[in-house]
Amino acid sequence: MKKTIIIVALTALPALSLALTSCASAGGSTDPIEVNKTDEGKISFSKTVHPILMDHCIRCHGEDADGDLSILNYEDVVKGGKTAGFIRPGDPEGSKIITSVEKTAVPNMPPKIFPALTEDRIQALKQWIEEGAENN
Ligand code: HEC
Repeated sequence: MKKTIIIVALTALPALSLALTSCASAGGSTDPIEVNKTDEGKISFSKTVHPILMDHCIRCHGEDADGDLSILNYEDVVKGGKTAGFIRPGDPEGSKIITSVEKTAVPNMPPKIFPALTEDRIQALKQWIEEGAENN
């Protein structure tokens, strides 16, 4: 009887560690990003900014949006959450999307058990806001 339990435990271990690894990588990548620009040379919302948000924020800011903030599409992103100033076009430092990921003001996002945004991701978000936060 004891033997059976040990064997079961041993066979379950690799499956468990695999499940944990894939869970940790489900969102919040820290790989370098590909920065895609529009024909005008601006950072693209659809090809650069939105994929970053979908990777790091969708877990909590999708259909059942925490803080009333959804990042599902451009309209939702510019509308922001229950407080004002998620996106202030031309003013990255005044935009909560930036202060939250740079952790210079509360709330800090994503919550600290998830990987923080890498510098290249933050730079891309900042530049997109600087350039007018267009639906491009
Ligand atoms: C694990 C869940 C989780 C993830 C992932 C997450 N958030 Fe949040 N977020 C929350 C919760 C819960 C709240 C509401 C409570 C609060 O304001 O602290 C919130 C609120 C916010 C607010 C305040 C909204 C308002 O107007 O009051 C901002 C800004 C925000 N999140 C930005 C982000 C960004 C940007 C990302 C991705 C980089 C992100 N969050 C990822 C859980 C999450």
